[in-house]
Parts: sequence; C-alpha cells; structure tokens
Amino acid sequence: MSRHFLKLSDLDAAEARTVVQRAMALRAADDRTHRPFVGRTLAMVFTKNSTRTRVSFESGMARLGGHALFLQAAATQIGRDEPMGDTARVLSRMCDAVMIRNDSQADQATFAQHARVPVINGLSELHHPCQLLADLQCWFEHRGDPAGKVAAWIGDGNNVCHSWIEAAAMFGFTLRIASPSGFEPDAAMIAAGRSSVQMCATPRQAVDGADLVVTDTWTSMGQEAETQRRLRAFSGYRVDTALMKCARPEAVFLHCLPAHRGEEVTAEVIDGPQSVVWDEAENRLWAQMALLEFLWKLLPDDAAT
Ligand code: CP
Ligand code: NVA
Repeated sequence: MSRHFLKLSDLDAAEARTVVQRAMALRAADDRTHRPFVGRTLAMVFTKNSTRTRVSFESGMARLGGHALFLQAAATQIGRDEPMGDTARVLSRMCDAVMIRNDSQADQATFAQHARVPVINGLSELHHPCQLLADLQCWFEHRGDPAGKVAAWIGDGNNVCHSWIEAAAMFGFTLRIASPSGFEPDAAMIAAGRSSVQMCATPRQAVDGADLVVTDTWTSMGQEAETQRRLRAFSGYRVDTALMKCARPEAVFLHCLPAHRGEEVTAEVIDGPQSVVWDEAENRLWAQMALLEFLWKLLPDDAAT
C-alpha cells in the first residue's frame, strides 16, 4: 500500500521530524552525485498557478536523477471531466508518484483512493502540507528545535494556516492565531489542535513574545472576487515593524510567498533582517526531495537521528 501526503498529519510526528531532518541533511550535503530517483517519474497536476511548487518538485526530481511531468489539468482529460479515479489508475501505471494542486481536498482523497503510487497535496483549499515541511526546516535551521516555542499566525485562517495548526501539535510548539472575525481557521481543525492552538483577539496579543511570526496573502487563489471585502476586513492585520517589535528580538518572519508588500506585510519586514523567506522558499526543494525519498522508502538508514 502506498503512503500518501494529503495533509501534514498523514505522517506521524516522528516521521515528519525525520523528513525535516533529512531535508536539512540534503541541503547541508548538496551532493549532486546522490541520484536515488533514476528511472522514476513524478506527475504534477495543476489546476492553479504556481512558481515554487512546480519548480521545486521539477528541479528536485532532476537533481536526484528522476523526471517530473508538468500537467496543466485543463490540458489533460481531467479538463474534459475524466473521473479522478480513472486518471489515478492510469497515472499510477505510468508514474511513480503524483502531486496535485487543486481546490478540492475531497478530489485529492478520491484520487489517492484509486492510486497505486504515493499522492502528494501540492496545495488544496484546506491544506498546504509541503509548505510546512519547508517552513519547519527553516525554523529548525535558523533557531533550532521549535518544541516549546511560540509561533504567531496573523491573518487569514486559510490552507497554510491549517497546516500550521497540524504542525503545532506534531512538533510541540504553541500556535497563536489572530484572524479577523469571519476569516478564522476551520473550527474542527482548531479543535483537533487542542492545547497547541490559541485563538487571539488581536495581532498584538498573538505576537507578544513570539519566537516566529508568519502570515500569508489575504486573498488566496480562487477568492479574487472577494478581494475588496478582504482588503477592508484585514486592514488591521498587516505585519509591520511595530508588530514585529512585540515579538522576541530574535524572532523570525516567514511567508510562504507570493507576498503582497503593503497588504499582509510591509516591505520593511519582508525585506528586513528578521525575514527568512528566501531560505523558506529554497527549502521547498530540499523538503520535497526528502518527502519523496520517504514515500518511496529510499531514506538512508541513518535519516532518523
Ligand atoms: N508557496 C507556494 O506554494 O508558492 P507557489 O504558489 O508559487 O507554488
Ligand atoms: N493561501 C495561498 C497560498 C499560495 C501558495 C493560496 O491558496 O493562494
């Protein structure tokens, strides 16, 4: 049976930690002779735009000796309503894993149910688990183990926020969330996060003494019709220098990108000394290489240290 990665909690805490540590090791070694994926292919199905997800998977596959296929869903028979299950069966016979970016976690689950190879969520309306592997790697690399620390999520309770909620429980840190009324994360996900998640009334309350501050766009892909309403609702949720001053002096700033300077974050913060967003983006490459090694059972014996 193939393992899938449709949400971060599809790995248990020890497995997620192993993948993140392996990602750090791959990055540190930067070994272009390591080619465990020779002969393997990854199909990448996109219904939404992407820079980082596409390029990191494609480049990661090439670096480790494999090949990635970019499939724009509309240009495939998915775009003419071939059932997800049928597509899953066919791609499973031609490829060794499938990554999907779409707006339906449910369709991804259907796809995985019919696939004989690992299926990876490259972003859905509910989760962005690959992003969290990279974000956790970035936090470990810059500040050590997140266990016992505090992260502050400012803004939309969206797909990336949901994956942060799962990460808090799995990696033993507290996630404080400040979202405008009506834009909070899914209630069931907050409940599943139990004591590791704290909802806060204001961004200042969330950031107070935090070790890490993270935000994302106010308008996710597919929500463009709500842009004006969102700009109004989120106006007090911008991460600026005054807000960063409420965090610990050594706090880092993360953003999955793409960013909108002057909206969810000021240029001063994202281009400032506490921002680690470029390492965060680079880590998509290493984290997904480690994830694929894990899903294909190609991790070296000493990966779990
Ligand atoms: N962070 C992220 O997933 O970026 P892309 O949309 O460019 O893939
Ligand atoms: N929340 C954003 C993340 C983009 C990487 C979106 O879904 O558009």
